[in-house]
This record gives sequence, C-alpha cells and structure tokens, in this order.
Amino acid sequence: MRAWTLGLAAEPAAGEATFVAISRAIAAAIRQGRLAAGAPIPGSRTLAQDLGVHRNTVLAALRELESEGWIETSPARGTFVRSTLPDATENAGRRARSSGRDPSKLGFPLGGLKVTDETLRHYGGKTAAHDKGVLALLGGLPDLRLLPRVVIARAHRRALGSAASLRYGDPLGDDKLREQLGEMLGRTRGIAQASDGLIVTRGSTMGLFLAASAVLQRDDVVLVESMGYRPAWEALRFTGARVVPVPIDREGIRTDAVERACAGGRVRAVYVTPHHQYPTTATLSAGRRMRLLELAKKHAFAIFEDDYDHEFHYDGRPTLPLASADTHGSVIYIGTLSKVLAPGLRLGFVVGPSPLVRRMAEVRTFVDRQGDLVTERAVAELLEDAEIQRHVRKMKRVYHTRRDALVAALGRRLGDVLVFHVPKGGLAIWAKASKSIDVEGWAERARKVGVLVQTARRFAFDGRAHPALRLGFAPLDEREINLAVSKLADTLRS
Ligand SMILES: Cc1ncc(COP(=O)(O)O)c(C=O)c1O
Repeated sequence: MRAWTLGLAAEPAAGEATFVAISRAIAAAIRQGRLAAGAPIPGSRTLAQDLGVHRNTVLAALRELESEGWIETSPARGTFVRSTLPDATENAGRRARSSGRDPSKLGFPLGGLKVTDETLRHYGGKTAAHDKGVLALLGGLPDLRLLPRVVIARAHRRALGSAASLRYGDPLGDDKLREQLGEMLGRTRGIAQASDGLIVTRGSTMGLFLAASAVLQRDDVVLVESMGYRPAWEALRFTGARVVPVPIDREGIRTDAVERACAGGRVRAVYVTPHHQYPTTATLSAGRRMRLLELAKKHAFAIFEDDYDHEFHYDGRPTLPLASADTHGSVIYIGTLSKVLAPGLRLGFVVGPSPLVRRMAEVRTFVDRQGDLVTERAVAELLEDAEIQRHVRKMKRVYHTRRDALVAALGRRLGDVLVFHVPKGGLAIWAKASKSIDVEGWAERARKVGVLVQTARRFAFDGRAHPALRLGFAPLDEREINLAVSKLADTLRS
C-alpha cells in the first residue's frame, strides 16, 4: 500500500546538516504518533522525492535514526518504527500530550442538534447483528447471504465505467433510477407522480429528514405512533418540532386520537407506518385510512407515510399505500431498498407534491450535494433488466417459509408464554409475553448466549418496559430460527 505523504518539514537550522534535520523531523513524527510503533517508514526513494533531496541524504538520516533507537531495519521486510522507543510510547494520551494536543478537549460549546440518550441507547453505533455466531431474531434486516452480489457488482462496474455517474449531478438522483422507481411505484403501488415528484435519497432515513426539514418549523406539532420507530422521531425533532405520541391498536394509529390532537392546533404533520405498523405489524384499517386522509385535508397537515417493507406480503394482496388514494396532495411517501437489497447501499426514495420535492432537493444540495450516482445507475439497470424483481420474488418465498418456521417454533417452544397474530407480511412477528415475565432480563440473558431480540421498550415513547417482543425472521434460515428459539426458550427457563 502506498502510504500517505508524511508532510515532513525538514528545514535545517543554521549550520545543521540536511540529513540531521530529516532525522529530527522523522523522530518528531514518531513522537507525535503520526508514525506509530511498528509502522513502516516510507522507502528512501519515496522520502527523497517527497523532500526534494538526494537519496543518499535520506539514507544517512535513516542510519542516524537507527543508531538513536527510533527505527529498525529488517533486510527482508524494510524499515519500521521500533516497538520500544527512546522517549515515546504507543499510549494515545501520552502521545497527545507530547504534541500538546488533547483530542478529547472541546474549546467551544456544541450546537442544538442532539440525539436523545434513549435513542442512542437503542440505535447508536454498529449493530452486533452480523457478528459471527450471533443469531439475530431482528426485524429490520434482510438476509444478505442471499443477495445476488455478483450481478450487483457487475452492474456497479458498468456504472463506474461511465463518466456521467462520476460528475456533479442532479440532487434528485440518477434519471434512469427515478424513471424505474416511478414505474415500479405506478405498477405495484398505484402511486402516480410527476417526473420532478420523486427524489432518490440515502435510505429512507435521509428521505424523512429532508421531508421534515421542508415541512416543519420550530414548535410545530408532529404526531407519531406509539409504539413506533424512534429514529424517525429524532429526524422530526431536529426541525425543532414537538413530537407528540398517539396510541395505536390492532387497526394501527387511533384516528380518533389524531382528531383530538388536531383540535389543540399546530398539528402540521403525522408520521405513520400504515402497511405494517412498526413495530406491531398491524395494517391500518380501511376506515382509518380514509379518516386520516380526510383529517389531513381538513386540518392541512402532511402525512409522512413510511412504507419500509412494502414488497414482503405473503397472504392475500398487499394494501395499497395511502399515497395511492391521496387526491389532496397531503401524503409524502417514503420508501427504501434497504430490505429489498441491502441497508448498506443506502438507497431510499420519497414521492410527494413537486414543490415539496424541489425544496427537499434544494436542502439536499447543501447537505450531501447528490447521492451515490454510480450505485444509483447500477440499481437502475438491475431494475431495467428485472434482476431486482427476480430477487424480490425469490426473497418473498424465502421469507414466507421463514415466517412459518418462526411461527411453528414459537408455538412449540414458547406457546405457553407468548401470544401473537401471524403477520400477513413484513419481516417480523410482534409477540406479547405473559405479564409475569421480565422481558428485559430475558432479552439480556438471550444476548449473552448470542440471540438478539428487541423488546417493546425501545419502541415505547415513554421508554418504559412492556411485556412484548419484536422477533424478526428474515436474516436467519430455518435451522437458525429453530436454534435461536430453542436458546430463547432455554434462557427463559434457566
Ligand atoms: C420503520 C422503518 N423505517 C425505515 C427504515 C429503513 O431505513 P433506511 O431506508 O434508512 O435504511 C427502517 C429500517 O429498519 C424501519 O424499520
């Protein structure tokens, strides 16, 4: 690997030889930690080129450093910083002090954007779900082992070959992908849109953030489902809006409670997951869908419709999104390819009235400029060639089987303590536990034996514990599902 240029300043002091100045500069770089213990020293030719000196001068400097004990040379491998140094250590704190800089010291106050501790507790950092040996009974994850990687890599390579994808481009996203997504939404979800009414975003997370920025102002009220999806609440809060919970039941969000909240004024938006309510998987009933659209029209609020796993429906037909019945321009429809392909590709999209989408694109320009146009073009081609459609058909069969496997395993091993409806779609089961069970303690014991489950607490607006679990079946095969449920049952009885 070609190392970064060290940016050495090797100006000789008056009367000092150049090779001494160079050895002093390299020793300083080691002391400051820019060259860590064991790190390779760039080759003498490279150093000579970077410093604009003769190679023999560099060789003299390296001999000097070796005699002082800073570096060591191994004939076969090259030259390295010694692991035990004359007056410096690997210790980061000491290293920082030696350069007069404490990297943890903050010399100014931080600004207003702050994620609540509760959200950070549940969603901060990297998830352990993909660690080796871990059985993740988690709802939000597809099985990446079944992703057609070779096909995606080929399309990515083709897209990378086109200079157009590497330029500054349209903040709305790659033209071809927008066209393909538009066609998909029209055909499968009954959503018509103008050509400038769809923006491709880095996941639906960015989609909601941009939409919220375009709609909400400080002190506006935005209603959310509780239980619900905490990361969305944070994105809404960043605008300065007040996030207010509304209860849900077996038919989804309680529209009577939405109506009551509207009577209090300032309700500018409602965030909902109507297809498979997150986390309970309930589908918003037909009556409530109509009522929500009527209320949106009457009170002029926006509906953020998060349809995060539309493709995966197993029994009967999927319900069409609210957006397909919206004649008033109230609904902002947010979708993602995170479950269809992979969350790491960061591809989502938003469909809404064109003035809103234009505003989102304007804001995006100064946050992110544009999306990853190479990936966007690659995925556009995969949609055009029906590769993604093929993958979705396959994964629907796979996930259907896994849902049934989880239902059967839970019935067998935990039927006496868990009650649940078999979800018609989605990637998870919402299971209520007997009141006598401490689900938090149970989940913690399960985690220790490598089984991850989500408890109701992370979805509750008040952050309180409730006796319920969300159990995902998508990332594990049937054998793994059986094993995970078996371990889960054992930890409960232990
Ligand atoms: C309710 C909900 N919305 C959206 C997403 C997807 O987010 P993104 O598209 O940013 O990966 C998830 C993923 O877990 C989700 O559960």
